[in-house]
Amino acid sequence: MANVLLISGSVFGAATLTADEIESTLDEAGHTVTRPEEPGVESLTDESQEWLIVCTSSTGNGDLPEELTPLYHGLLNDYPKIIHLKFAVVALGDSSYETYCGGGLSIDAALADLGATRMAEPFKIDAMEVTEPEAIAPDWVLSVINGTVETN
Ligand SMILES: Cc1cc2nc3c(=O)[nH]c(=O)nc-3n(C[C@H](O)[C@H](O)[C@H](O)COP(=O)(O)O)c2cc1C
Repeated sequence: MANVLLISGSVFGAATLTADEIESTLDEAGHTVTRPEEPGVESLTDESQEWLIVCTSSTGNGDLPEELTPLYHGLLNDYPKIIHLKFAVVALGDSSYETYCGGGLSIDAALADLGATRMAEPFKIDAMEVTEPEAIAPDWVLSVINGTVETN
């Protein structure tokens, strides 16, 4: 069973609800989930955490929601040591934007640049097609952690 750090960023609540469901699913599967209220780089440098799951929407022009801005800037400016982390990103977005899933893709790139191990390409969920991201993201996260993921 894995120690999983779960971080979410949302504007209107869909990514928060999706992260809630991810948390329940991982809990039920026997994993230990930590979900910091105000995630900063210090939560990522905790070496007792093996996995990082980020679940975020996009806002503006491919930007991250405000609650993830401090973490993102910390990743870019503080160069935290996070090479112990395996990570995967659930990216909520809307394909009618040119910057489709830009927020999720930015944090995915920043984590990989710092040497964390990307265990799957970001799981993009398009609001044009999917009305309940919380119904599909938890099983994807579980399959990534179990090593049985299929790409979307
Ligand atoms: C003002 C605004 C800007 C948005 N910008 C983007 C964007 O740049 N790229 C994208 O993929 N989705 C964009 N979206 C779509 C949201 O990311 C998508 O609807 C998501 O499911 C919302 O999740 P949330 O409720 O957690 O914020 C935008 C939505 C709004 C309202």
